[in-house]
Amino acid sequence: MVKHDLIIIGAGPGGYAAAVRAAQLGLDTACVEKEARLGGTCLRVGCIPSKALLESSEKFAEAGPGLEKHGVRMSGVKLDLETMMARKEGIVTQLTDGVAGLFKQHGVTRYEGAASLDGPGRVKVGSQVLEAKNVIIATGSTAATLPGVPMDGDLIGDSTAALAWPRVPEKLVVIGAGYIGLELGSVWARLGAKVTVVEYLKRILPGTDGEIARVALQLFKKQGLVFQLGAEVTAATIKGKKVSVSIKDHEPLTANRVLVAVGRKPVTEGLGLETAGVTLTDRGFIKVDPHGKAAEGVYAVGDVGGGAMLAHKATDEGVAVVERLAGKAGHFDPALVPAVCYTDPEIAGVGRTEEQLKEENVPYRKGVYGFRANGRALALDRPEGRVKVLAHAETDRVLGVHIIGPRAGDLIAEATAAMAFGASAEDIGAVCHAHPTLSEVLHEAALGAFDRPLHG
Ligand code: NAI
Repeated sequence: MVKHDLIIIGAGPGGYAAAVRAAQLGLDTACVEKEARLGGTCLRVGCIPSKALLESSEKFAEAGPGLEKHGVRMSGVKLDLETMMARKEGIVTQLTDGVAGLFKQHGVTRYEGAASLDGPGRVKVGSQVLEAKNVIIATGSTAATLPGVPMDGDLIGDSTAALAWPRVPEKLVVIGAGYIGLELGSVWARLGAKVTVVEYLKRILPGTDGEIARVALQLFKKQGLVFQLGAEVTAATIKGKKVSVSIKDHEPLTANRVLVAVGRKPVTEGLGLETAGVTLTDRGFIKVDPHGKAAEGVYAVGDVGGGAMLAHKATDEGVAVVERLAGKAGHFDPALVPAVCYTDPEIAGVGRTEEQLKEENVPYRKGVYGFRANGRALALDRPEGRVKVLAHAETDRVLGVHIIGPRAGDLIAEATAAMAFGASAEDIGAVCHAHPTLSEVLHEAALGAFDRPLHG
């Protein structure tokens, strides 16, 4: 029987990163993946292809009237969707091949197939049984479905389908105003679809700071997205080439295509979890302790183990588990996972929202500063949005930073690093920020939380 120190099930951002790190630390490591391409949902049909399409569609939307105020006049701008999709696939191939290259470089043994646990310390891949001291389950998640809304593989699809539609739908109904609905809804709206987002809650972006989500809603409406909030989709029926979407207490909508973006669910089926004493939470995630341990010799990282369903969270969890297995002090803080929604403008946050602080009765001060007064934002023609810094009212320690604005996803890194080092708002205010950069808006918001902005 083949023996490894560590077998990892799943080669997404959680699994492949853990595999590479384990091999770097000298563990005999194997990774089992059922798909031919490594990299998981994120690289194949998630973060990466969606970002490629977001970038391309933004260029297309900008190429027309958007450039005139810069003194750049264009005519005859045309969409070549096939080329756009081919570029996206090219990036996916480059990155998934890159993961295969990393496995080779570091000597990670790759098994292709669906793995399942076969008792403690044993993993089955097809007819082959492998042995390992430790197993990490990193099988990720899959799109949740809605009862009454059958995915037909054509007119009604999930995010994977919406990354590869061959034509721009005239009318698109997006069910769910979370990250996926808003990112992919934005892509198709920019390419010319009339997009209506139907959301069960009375707000968009659940979990995001409420003030930031309200600003986002206004900006998305200005971009032409239509929202029906407080509206629950109960069914969708295909009628010829169209779909009729039924909404509780509202008129039905007719669409050429429907994107179902109502969350994701953990992949745990067929994993033989019970053979190794692994149990599930009542929401179907693998039950783990704060160090990712699910049972003796079995760990779970990433979406399948619960918490934020984000690639970088999976990676950091995986690396931390492996480092501890190798005798190091692997560290991961789930309270400091930045979240980024790659719409235009981008939306990013880390730490606690204002709503959470209120709920927990934490006394706080807030500093808010807009991009409108920032020279770089004006030069970029991206004056919309703001940065909000929330600091403890007594200690001044930064508790949360929330941004809507240009490159919010990059700006949040400074806030995350500052919070990881326990910074106060005054500390961020005392740091020299280059001028003219977008980071000055965070600087001013931090000054605002501590005392007052310099330019306010
Ligand atoms: P989500 O959970 O963020 O949002 C789903 C929305 O659908 C919710 O607002 C919910 O109220 C709504 N909904 C549910 N049932 C409904 C119904 N019957 N009618 C109308 N609305 C309904 O899920 P989403 O956007 O699918 O994303 C899944 C996961 O993937 C999230 O955890 C997200 O964080 C992650 N993700 C992260 C991205 C990023 O980091 N940029 C990009 C895409 C996804």
